[in-house]
Order: sequence, then C-alpha cells, then structure tokens
Amino acid sequence: MPETSAQSPIERTRHGSSIGQPLTRRDGPLKVTGQARFAADHLPPGTLHAALCVARIGRGRVTGLDVAAAKAHPGVVAVMTPENAPKLAKHPDEKDGPFTFRLDLLQDSAVRYANQPVAVVVAETLEAATEGARLLAPRYAVESPRIGLDAGAVFTPPSVGVGQPPEEGIGDVEAGLGAAAKTISATYETAAQYHNAMEPHAAIAIWEGDRLTLHTPSQGMAMAQGRLAGLFGLRPEDIHIESPYLGGGFGSKGMIAGPQVLACMAARLVGRPVKLVASRSQMFGPMGHRPPTRQTLRLGVDADGKLTALDHHTLTASSTFDDFFEPSGGVSHTLYASPAISTRHEAVRLDTGTPLFMRAPGEASGSVALESAVDEMADACGMDPLAFRLANYAEVEPISGRPFSSKALRDCYRQGAERFGWAGRPLKPRQMRDANGLLVGWGMGTATFPALMFEGNARAELRADGTGTVEIGAHDMGQGAWTALAQIAADGLGIPIEKLTFRMGSSNLPDAGIAGGSGHTATAGGAIHAAGLDVIGKLADLATNDPASALYGAGNAGVVARGGRLHRRDDESRSESFEAILGRAGQPSITGLGKASSDPAAQKSHAMHAHGAVFAEVKVDPDLGQVRVTRLVGAFAAGRIINPRLVTSQYYGGMIWGVSFALHEHAAMDARTGRFLNDNLAEYHLPVNADTPAMEAILVHEDDAVVNALGVKGVGEIGITGTAGAVANAVWHATGIRIRTLPITLDTLL
Ligand code: MOS
Repeated sequence: MPETSAQSPIERTRHGSSIGQPLTRRDGPLKVTGQARFAADHLPPGTLHAALCVARIGRGRVTGLDVAAAKAHPGVVAVMTPENAPKLAKHPDEKDGPFTFRLDLLQDSAVRYANQPVAVVVAETLEAATEGARLLAPRYAVESPRIGLDAGAVFTPPSVGVGQPPEEGIGDVEAGLGAAAKTISATYETAAQYHNAMEPHAAIAIWEGDRLTLHTPSQGMAMAQGRLAGLFGLRPEDIHIESPYLGGGFGSKGMIAGPQVLACMAARLVGRPVKLVASRSQMFGPMGHRPPTRQTLRLGVDADGKLTALDHHTLTASSTFDDFFEPSGGVSHTLYASPAISTRHEAVRLDTGTPLFMRAPGEASGSVALESAVDEMADACGMDPLAFRLANYAEVEPISGRPFSSKALRDCYRQGAERFGWAGRPLKPRQMRDANGLLVGWGMGTATFPALMFEGNARAELRADGTGTVEIGAHDMGQGAWTALAQIAADGLGIPIEKLTFRMGSSNLPDAGIAGGSGHTATAGGAIHAAGLDVIGKLADLATNDPASALYGAGNAGVVARGGRLHRRDDESRSESFEAILGRAGQPSITGLGKASSDPAAQKSHAMHAHGAVFAEVKVDPDLGQVRVTRLVGAFAAGRIINPRLVTSQYYGGMIWGVSFALHEHAAMDARTGRFLNDNLAEYHLPVNADTPAMEAILVHEDDAVVNALGVKGVGEIGITGTAGAVANAVWHATGIRIRTLPITLDTLL
C-alpha cells in the first residue's frame, strides 16, 4: 500500500483524511440486503412489460410478422413494429457528434445483424409480452451474411470519431528491419467478445407529457440525455435518468443502446410506463462487443537485443453501418523504445452489431499481440523476457518524445518478479513439471493504459453544524465510485466521512462525464476536489478576515481544512472549528462548485499512462492439453491510490478478464446463418472460481504531480492488459508450443 511521502509535491494522505483508507464499499450493505434498487427493481404503478422480438437471421429483411396472433394473446396491449413505431425527430442513423452510434429503432424492415430488434410487444405481464414476441414469428427475405475477418470488405477506418487513434509512427521501419540482426514476423488472432455484465440492460420509461424519466443503468447519463433529446426532439433537461447502481458495464453502458430507446418509444406508444429488460442472448447483438482482431507484428533487434523496428498492423471488424473498431496498435506507440515504429489499422465490414468500448478497448487485444511478440523475440535472442523488456525500456514516450508524467514500471517489474520468484525461471520451454507430471510454465506481460480525463462538475455544501453534502452525477458500475468519490469529497471538505452526505447516480446532479476510459476517479474526483476547494476557500476568507478568529491574518492560502477545523499552516495548533467560523459569520452554510478536465498544456508536455507487470504460472496436462492458471502476480503503478481495497479488487477483476481473454472467451457465430452459436452463459465461457488462480495485486507507489490535481491515473482497465499475454507466454513456456490464436483451447496443444 502506498505510504505518504514527505517529499511529494502533492499534499499526500493527511492525518485523519479519508483518502488512502481501505474502506469497504459504502453501498455494500444496501446491495447485500437487497435495498439497493437497480433499474430493473423499479415497477411504478401501471407499468407494462415489454419484450423484444429479435431477428433470427444475420442479414436481410423482415417480410412479415404475425401481429394478429401476438395481439390475440391474453394480456398483450400493443405490438410496436416499423408500421406504428413513434416517429423520431432524428433518424437513428443520423449522428449528432462522434459519440453517437447508429441504433436500430424499428424505422424500417432491414436486418443488419442477428439479434437485432425487429418488434416490441407490450403486455400486462412479462409472460404475456414474452409469448407475444414469440408469436410474431418473423418471416424474412434472407441474404448471405458476412461473418469472419475474411468475409467483409476491407476499409481504413476514418481518422475522426471514437476509438480511433491517429496512425502514428517514427523512423523507417523497413530500414530498421533491414538493418536488424534478428527479425520476427508473427500474426496473432483474438476472438470476438461480448459484454456480459451481471445486470443486462434494463429500462423503465415513464413519460409525463414531454418529460421522460428513465431508470436505466448508464456509464454516461449526460450523453444519454443528449442522445435521447435528439431522437425525441426534446431538451436534454426534459429527460431525467436515474442510475444509482449498475451490475457491471465494462463499456456497454457508456452509450445508450437501442433497446433502452425502444422502451421509451414503447412507453410513448401506449401512454403508460414500460419496463424492458434484455435477456442474456439479447446482450449479444445490439449492445456492443469487442470485435475480433488479426494483428501482425514485425520486430527487428540489433545484436544486443535492442529494438531497431516495431511494426504493428491490425485487421479488425466493424459493422456494415458504423465505424467503431478495436484500436489495437496504440500500445505500440508507448510501451517500448524503438527508433522506428509504425502502426496501421484496417477493418472489415461484417453483419454484426456495431462493436463498442469493451474494457481496455485496443490495449487489451493489442497488448496480447505485442507482449506475445516480445516474448517470441526474447526467446529468439536467448534472453530472459524481463531482461529483454528492460533492455527496451522506454525512458520517454517513444513516438512523441514526451517525458512521462510518472512511470514506475521498473518498480513494477522488480516487485512483481520478486514476489513471483521469476529469477528461478528456466530460459528454455518445457523444463518444469509438478509432482503430478503436469507441465509448468511461467510467462509475463507488461500492462499499460493511458491516464485519461473527461469533463466533470460537482457541487458541495458545508453546513454550520459541521456536516457537508457533495453532489455529482457520477456512475458506479460496481467499481466503488460510491466509496472512493465520497472519500475524496470528505477529504475536500475536511470533514470525517461520517458527516458527509454524498449523492450521485442521477442526471439531476451536475454532469460528471462518462465513467469510462479508466478516467472517472480523475474526472469526477477532480471535480469533487475542486468543489471542496471552492467551499474551503470561502470559509477561509471568512476566518482570516475576522479579527475574532484564531486564523486572522493567515491569508486564504495559509490555512488547511482537516477534521472539521481550519488550521494555520505555519502553526497547526492555531485552529478553529467550521461551526465557530460559520456561527460567528451568521451563515447557515457555504456552497461551492467544482470543475475538472484534462489540462491541454500538461497533455502536450507529458505522456500520461499507468503501467504494470503481470506474471503468470500455468499448468498444462501433457495428455489432455488442459490449461490451468495456477498463479498470477500483478504489480501496478497508477499514481495516487484513493482506496487500496477497491483498487486491488479492480486489478483482480481485470486480471481475471485477462485469464478469460487468453483461455475462455469466444463469441462463436455460424458463418452460414450469421447467428450466434453460444449467446448464453452456459456456452460463452467465462472463468469461474475454479478457473481463477491464487492472485496477488501489488500496489506500487507512484507520485504524479502532473497528471491531475489528485495525482490519480485510473485503475479500471489496466489489469486486463498484460495479463492475457502473460498467460499465453506461460503456456508456451510450459509446452514449447506457441499458440497465436486466442483463446487457447486444449485441442491446439495436442
Ligand atoms: Mo470502459 S470500456 O471505458 O467502460
């Protein structure tokens, strides 16, 4: 756990501060006692239930629906099809900015992918709605679907929009490869993955005239308001979203998805509240996914094992109607020093729903390929994989030449390797067996994710009784925002967390920006911190200008708030309680506002990334090919740690997903029908407890005075990066077999 640092330019965890404390989740008791109300727990009086009827083909057109049969079913109130769906103010294929995705909202009969909604049935009960949807029995004009990376037309994704990095590079890669003492070229494939948060998307839509209230899980309420406002021709402030708790999001709830909008349309159509909850299989299609990738890495090194060239080409997929893709090459911009680097992305248009952000979009798949290629090159050089990485350590960001705002990656390598026992690793593969004859292998990977920030706003109030309130439209996907942000709020107001009322999770509160890109603590926390400073500044003005105060004359910057009191910085024994200051001033409370966003000057002068090192042990059955991860150690440096308990959980979650990436997850589609073969949690494999190893996450101390006012970098996504590569490399080390197609399945090892 990071210790306080006297030398730190940032005022570190102070005595009595909430920041840095390993508090348990403040919302935990509500969740385990069923008092926390998730979206689908809402059922306002008069609510009707909706069920989606989704396409059973991958491409084509709906030619008929048995609306009469559905309507005849007892309890069915309405059937919404393209014939009677409410007219929208804006066609859902029309974009209103880079952060919009084209949605399928029953505007025509086209089927663009399997599981696309083609009708909605509204009924008095869920059972009636579900049966009504079944009775619609769509008829289709079927076209041949384009499924798989070799099936679609290749295009170069546009350089504008979301998830699309500029194609950066330095030097001459071909010259670097030509001059290299050794080169390798290897192609890696990663599978399509679908977001399977525990809580599927749910929406309870309530119209009162032209005002809409929506209970729905959201990682970005303000953006959802904007999108809904555009579609329905309303002002954003006429749309009220409640989203206090999410059962996971992983990016799929960052943008509002089609089925959530369909619930709003259905509620308009029937003039009553409507509740729609996606089924598990309906999560595969309209809610986004991580597209498959095929990445070709070409590396050259000189006689000392130093890179002379690094080329990273990604072929991935988007939908036929939108442009989002997985930007895998970004990791090669930042991780290793090389005089020549180039990255390029191409995508094919497939008959799938549009891909979307999925935990570490780009870095997750990109780091698998890069870390595998680095492992292959280390082997080709006869070097230990860690020694190879240290020989190619990037002291500055390789392409931009910018210094890192902080980079404790060497410490991550050292602490992780020590804890794991990496020094005892034989260089050659297939050297270790356990007592039962299983092959044992050790592999590693470097983890990295950019420290991003968006724009956030917060409101704070301090009252004369020493209590305070902080309000922000922030989002808790389960990562612990209810707790970590409250810790920052209590710290900012200088009050014990027990005296804080903390509100979040509603669009009626100040816009906190999206909870994504691992930037929510920096953004929402930064806004909260600024709101606290605003309040304390006003309080300090009152005290330091009042001759009756012990702080008189100290000047606004000469005081610090802590434990419900203002203290003089130069003489901490001179202090006064908030109650006394406000009481004497005759003010019941002080309010303040805060705003945070990334600093363009700092962005220009510095590269900002979190880093880590992941070490994996696997055991492979030589007869059956079965792979088990038996040990994982991750060491991560991500700036200041607000709550070490929650952060450890985030790292575990990411690392488990890395295991899943390497060994389990694969959304399989039937290329003939365009339909999913495993759109359920029985056949879409996810790691369960038996698949998850003994795991350790080391929080490596890192000070960062540049990245933002709080010095935090974000921890939500980095755990998945590095881990999948570490597992794949461990499988090679155990078996001597290099599998370049993930997930690694037992048949490929026999
Ligand atoms: Mo994350 S993929 O930015 O929720």
